[in-house]
Amino acid sequence: MIFGRVKPLDAILATAEKKSLTRTLGALQLTMLGIGAIIGTGIFVLTAEAANKAGPAMMISFVIAAVVCALAALCYSELASMVPVSGSAYTYSYATFGEIVAWIVGWALVLEYAIAASAVSVGWSGYMVKLAEEIFSITIPNTFVKGPFDDDPGLINIPAMLIGLVCMALLIVGTKESARFNAVLVAIKVSALALFLVLALPAIDAANFEPFSPNGFFAKEVIDPITNNMVTVGVAAAAASIFFAYVGFDAVSTAAEETINPQRNIPIGLIGSLGFCTIIYLLVAAGAIGTIGAQPGGSLAQSDDALAFVLREIGQGWAGDLVAIAAGIALPSVILMMMFGQTRIFFVMARDGLLPDVFSRLHPKYGTPHVVTMCTGVFVALFAALFPVGKLADISNSGTLFAFFTVAVGVMILRRTDPTRHRPFRTPMVWLICPLAAAGCVFLFFQLSGYTELMFLGWTVIGLVVYFSYSRSRSHVGRGSIEVHELDPDVPPTSVPPIN
Ligand code: ALA
Repeated sequence: MIFGRVKPLDAILATAEKKSLTRTLGALQLTMLGIGAIIGTGIFVLTAEAANKAGPAMMISFVIAAVVCALAALCYSELASMVPVSGSAYTYSYATFGEIVAWIVGWALVLEYAIAASAVSVGWSGYMVKLAEEIFSITIPNTFVKGPFDDDPGLINIPAMLIGLVCMALLIVGTKESARFNAVLVAIKVSALALFLVLALPAIDAANFEPFSPNGFFAKEVIDPITNNMVTVGVAAAAASIFFAYVGFDAVSTAAEETINPQRNIPIGLIGSLGFCTIIYLLVAAGAIGTIGAQPGGSLAQSDDALAFVLREIGQGWAGDLVAIAAGIALPSVILMMMFGQTRIFFVMARDGLLPDVFSRLHPKYGTPHVVTMCTGVFVALFAALFPVGKLADISNSGTLFAFFTVAVGVMILRRTDPTRHRPFRTPMVWLICPLAAAGCVFLFFQLSGYTELMFLGWTVIGLVVYFSYSRSRSHVGRGSIEVHELDPDVPPTSVPPIN
């Protein structure tokens, strides 16, 4: 039967039991972890995209995206604490829905993680290119700093490609972000946003908020008067795009195993980091709108380095440069985090036999999964080289929304099929929160552009072709052997009894 291959939770958990991590993280550290993973290209760059879609009403878009994320986060945490092993939504789906859904989710997670890494690389490039222009008066022609699918096309985005490859190299030699390093990066990002607020908020002119919602609420396709391309606009469409600005909070959920009193601290960490980011994002959006206006097609909407651009426009060029430098330092950590997530998912899928074995090979010296990291790095660099940030972020969101939807439904299914299992964190009001989270994900998915939905569909079809032509016949679960592995190469795999 096509849906018959479910991986027993006990087999998955055998991995987790061996890998008992010490519980050291409290609510504050978790919140910091979340903020570190969340703030990135979304607020620094996609504010321009949101302005183009929703105008000043993008403030509502920020709130809608935050609410859907908070709901999804509460569901995610239950599974993350219950099944605290690598592979996130892919692993949960294997235990809940079976192999084929797990495969589709794992395949969609490539969009969530790898394409997100590409998006952040392009965002980084936008800031660096403008900074080179401002500080060193170096103007690089579009040919080398924009991809062919940009509204203002070039040939290849070299800086974006290079930063992707540098992050890949760092991951191969085994860069791990320490909590202290993360705290420094959080401080840099938050200071940059704080500087923006201090300078922008006093310069707000209420008139710039009019007309507040020029494109209405629901997504609709219109012809962009400036580029003559079809664009999807509306408050909900902007919410579906700006959703990207909140992605990354799953870092909190996946740290459940290392958290003191997870039932209390996980929701504080999640809601704390999402709440903090929402407030900062709303203030930053208000600052950008109120100072230079945010009408679709306007100057903000067309900028590649939104926050630095606003500061330069209001005569604070020095601060614009500082914000750009902060983005230059801090954004690569988001790329690293996304790429790392991707390699671990591929790694787990290879260990399950669904991807070639070579993907789970570890580097003899560094002990990192170097083959899969290289493949991921090249994939990330290629997309970063060719596509604009807005399209990449939307495609990434389609995969993330699909994964979150599956998780929300998975929580409800497991509550029914496996009610007695220990859940260090339980989603509060599960029968309300999970359906709302699932509905929110579906809603936002269908507010994305038709182009994005088609890309998602195409990607899924390619995934299914790979599954049926390669993975299905090689699956370890399908062959009746389930091995429990550790990422740590020193720990040998342990067999658990075959499933019937
Ligand atoms: N939330 C992350 C960002 O905005 C992915 O870059």
